[in-house]
Amino acid sequence: MTSDRPNIESTSELEKFYTECRQAFAVGALQRLVLSKYKGSEAELNRITIRPVQIKEQKLLSFLYEYRTNHVTKNFALDDALALLQQLLGSDFHNAHMISDDWEIQLSFSKKGKVLLNKNRNKNSPAAGDQKYSQVEQSHNRTKLRYVEQDRPYLRELGITDANSQIIPAMSRKWKQINKFIEVLSTAIQQTGLDKRNELHIADFGSGKAYLTFAVHDYVSANLGVNTQVTGVELRQGLVDLCNQTAQKLSLTGIKFEQGDVQHFSAQNINIMIALHACDIATDYALNMGVRTGAEIIMCSPCCHKQIRPQLQSPALLAPLLQHGIHLGQEAEMITDGLRALLLEAHGYDTKVFEFISLEHTSKNKMILAQKRKTQRDNREVLQQIADIKTFYGITEQCLETLLQN
Ligand SMILES: C[S@@+](CC[C@H](N)C(=O)[O-])C[C@H]1O[C@@H](n2cnc3c(N)ncnc32)[C@H](O)[C@@H]1O
Repeated sequence: MTSDRPNIESTSELEKFYTECRQAFAVGALQRLVLSKYKGSEAELNRITIRPVQIKEQKLLSFLYEYRTNHVTKNFALDDALALLQQLLGSDFHNAHMISDDWEIQLSFSKKGKVLLNKNRNKNSPAAGDQKYSQVEQSHNRTKLRYVEQDRPYLRELGITDANSQIIPAMSRKWKQINKFIEVLSTAIQQTGLDKRNELHIADFGSGKAYLTFAVHDYVSANLGVNTQVTGVELRQGLVDLCNQTAQKLSLTGIKFEQGDVQHFSAQNINIMIALHACDIATDYALNMGVRTGAEIIMCSPCCHKQIRPQLQSPALLAPLLQHGIHLGQEAEMITDGLRALLLEAHGYDTKVFEFISLEHTSKNKMILAQKRKTQRDNREVLQQIADIKTFYGITEQCLETLLQN
């Protein structure tokens, strides 16, 4: 439904705006276009965010209709998108903000129908074409890719950004962690083809204050335009209540928090299983759940490796190295996570172990990323490798292995 269009005084400014949008899209430089100041008749509609998307080789424009309690995505070819834009601007929406790699253009309509166009260089302009769909920051002559936009409302609500969408200095490590996490996730989603699904179910075990839970919800629903149901599972009721209140305050749908212990939680049909810094064997329970529900992506950043260390009987040759507690801890950590990765390999996943990013309160910075293989593979060799490693170190039990055997 569109409301009556006021008398528009200057159509040339409008034409200039449409031309800029068309050109930015054509050369692949369009980052986003946001329509705001809604005056139409749909009571719950706030704004529309438009971004370029590629669906089955076709470059389209994805319109994300942001309602108070839900989001709806519609994709259009360029001509249809521009026709719709012409219908909406000046009538339903009185403000448009277009960001391309080179320009930031603000278009607004006064009450009397006067059109104002304000065009400025994009200060965050990226250096390279391949990074055109993301915001980029120049530092130390290096181009840094940012996957998350600073103006997202959840960042403000969680205290990562201030009222002007600037990163609060004390939260800069958390901000980097969120970006790194979304970068890893985004690649995995594309490689597994999950971005083509209509709906995704995501579980985050040990969600804590849920910085990453909100980030993944926002990225999948707003950036990819995929309907998503994100569930954060957390032991501490206080944090569960706090996070549900935050979701409510932001009028978000498709995200909820439940009190529960991952060791007794039951979940089904999860596409993406996340467990970041869940303590000790809580990580094994989460990994087991991910495998059992057939999750296409499993992402975990383990911490507190307590189970294996007391079992280790290292060969005498290594004793001078492992006499130092810190080395024994590092050895136990490497063996625990190495075995977890091999167990995931044996259960149908391609697995990588790599450096993630540390939190402010812990030096733990490892990530295990597992992506479900499309075809089955003979797992006898990898099962034999696991058995040999256990024998070598005298390990009698590893939690994930036991869970997967039951
Ligand atoms: C270090 S915090 C990490 C929070 C968040 N995942 C992150 O990386 O920012 C670990 C969280 O896991 C929760 N937790 C620990 N064991 C758990 C379990 N068995 N079931 C559910 N949550 C658990 C803790 O209460 C804590 O909030």
